[in-house]
Amino acid sequence: MGKSYPNVSVEYQRAVDEVKRKLTELYAEKKCAPLMLRFTFHSAGTFDINTKTGGPFGTMRNKVEQAHGANVGLDIAVNLLEPVKQQFSIISYADFYQLAGIVAVESTGGPPITFHPGRLDIDAPPPDGRLPVPSMGPDQLRNAFIKTMGLNDQDIVALSGGHTLGSAHKDRSGVDGSWTTNPLVFDNSYFKELLAGEKAGLIQLPSDKALLADPVFRPLVEKFAADNNAFFQAFAESFMKLNELGFADA
Ligand code: HEM
Repeated sequence: MGKSYPNVSVEYQRAVDEVKRKLTELYAEKKCAPLMLRFTFHSAGTFDINTKTGGPFGTMRNKVEQAHGANVGLDIAVNLLEPVKQQFSIISYADFYQLAGIVAVESTGGPPITFHPGRLDIDAPPPDGRLPVPSMGPDQLRNAFIKTMGLNDQDIVALSGGHTLGSAHKDRSGVDGSWTTNPLVFDNSYFKELLAGEKAGLIQLPSDKALLADPVFRPLVEKFAADNNAFFQAFAESFMKLNELGFADA
């Protein structure tokens, strides 16, 4: 689908650049880039292409959405981000929350992500239950990412590489541990570890392992494990699509 991006003022664009600098500082201090990447995924990944509801429109600022089953712990992200947001009233929450994930990727060594500003805030949160859950196999992942969000097979595999960053926490998801040995570095190690199989000290969710079991997903896992540049290119493309679900559709 074609996109027709809104124009924003020079002042707005300048604020975007300044926000990116401030968030980079915040993440360095708090080591919270992984949490912010998850936050941005959960902010955008509620989009339903069939009803054109949900998506990256700043609704996560509502406590009702923070309390959704998949979002345990994301109130911490909202609270860390709010003092920065207060300094930039010109920027919408919708844009700001997507920038949060872009900075998470870029500040940990990941690829540059193209950002188009101009999302308008929506107040009402989407219904609970739209985000993927760890028990999902290939068919259910396709239902969530393709039939509901409107993304494709390669987007599923590339975006799953977001688990190169961060950890699962016992008190949030019931799972404890990281996917990689360097959870503050964005690279293709998620795919290498996935292919290497289960290892003491590292985790793989059923939804991660589903990528190995599927004849379309698996060759992409192998490609991204072997070629960091191919992963970066695919991730940058898929993450921009995620950031723009339901936004600027012509
Ligand atoms: C494919 C479906 C997915 C499922 C079922 C899933 C599930 C989970 C779960 C259960 C956690 C642990 C939360 C916690 O206990 O703190 C987690 C963490 C995380 N997820 Fe996902 N996820 C998926 C896709 C993604 C995508 C597409 C991204 C980003 C592009 C992403 C980024 C992250 C990050 C960065 C963390 C670590 C957060 C932290 O360190 O606090 N996930 N995910």
